[in-house]
Amino acid sequence: MCLEAGINLYDTADMYSQGESEQLIGAAFRDQRDKVFIATKGGYCLPGRRKMIARIKPLVRPLVKAMGLKRERLPASVSGSISQNFEPGYLQSAVEASLRRLRTDYIDLYQLHSPPPSVILRDDWCEALQLMKDQGKIRAFGIAADSPADAATAVSRGGISSVQVPFGLLDPEALTEVFPSASASGIGVIARGCFGGGLLKETLSPEELKAKTEKWERILTLRAEAQQKGKPVLQAALRYSLQPSEVSVTILGMHTPQHLRDILRMLA
Ligand SMILES: NC(=O)c1ccc[n+]([C@@H]2O[C@H](COP(=O)([O-])OP(=O)(O)OC[C@H]3O[C@@H](n4cnc5c(N)ncnc54)[C@H](OP(=O)(O)O)[C@@H]3O)[C@@H](O)[C@H]2O)c1
Repeated sequence: MCLEAGINLYDTADMYSQGESEQLIGAAFRDQRDKVFIATKGGYCLPGRRKMIARIKPLVRPLVKAMGLKRERLPASVSGSISQNFEPGYLQSAVEASLRRLRTDYIDLYQLHSPPPSVILRDDWCEALQLMKDQGKIRAFGIAADSPADAATAVSRGGISSVQVPFGLLDPEALTEVFPSASASGIGVIARGCFGGGLLKETLSPEELKAKTEKWERILTLRAEAQQKGKPVLQAALRYSLQPSEVSVTILGMHTPQHLRDILRMLA
């Protein structure tokens, strides 16, 4: 449905659903690889226990669903904690594993997944990814940053093609902290979190918002402003995110066909 609607960039990560997200994208676009641009990420590693659980997941999923278990209620011994690794050798094997799951022989954009500033400033990962670029395994590489401050560090270090950063009505900081320098350095900007990770949904009551985020007052103000203009706040958020000329692409966390239909209607 997304491809038919003209959406041709898909952002995933090896970590998302323990590899299942990459597998789904690989299966969906196996026969139309040249029509899509696949961006993935690496740098988080799964402990052995989680890898084993990922393998048996298709078998236990119906049981977990039937029992109504939520991920956050699973014992830590089952969910396991995750760590990061940005060493050249690890990244090399992570790229190979992503290529296999994505059923492709090249990745359009490979991103370091939420590296801390100390890693962003290192050169070893950059040299390793450059080597994989020279080998044709990846076509470009960049950094998916956790915050505008980390994104600004990534832009200032240079040597990358893109930076992914939270940006939207709720988090406008990247507009001044990242976009001007990214643009001056020729680094592409991928904006994410346009809907505040779901916080901007109008279905959340003020009480629910207060319990979820410190930004609840700002959200209520944004809702009121959108209402005055007679537009849904999600539509205002979408337009805000797409507007800056420095934004190469806005990625949206869609989960359902209805999300897609809503977005297409908002853009019409
Ligand atoms: N460090 C990183 O690299 C990093 C971190 C976070 C995200 N990301 C990337 O950024 C993407 C977007 O992030 P996000 O999902 O947190 O933020 P988002 O796009 O701001 O929020 C998506 C949420 O908005 C809600 N929503 C309501 N109406 C919607 C509609 N019509 N269409 C889509 N969503 C609607 C949905 O919540 P409900 O499902 O509750 O209805 C959905 O989960 C992720 O998929 C991922 O690829 C990367």
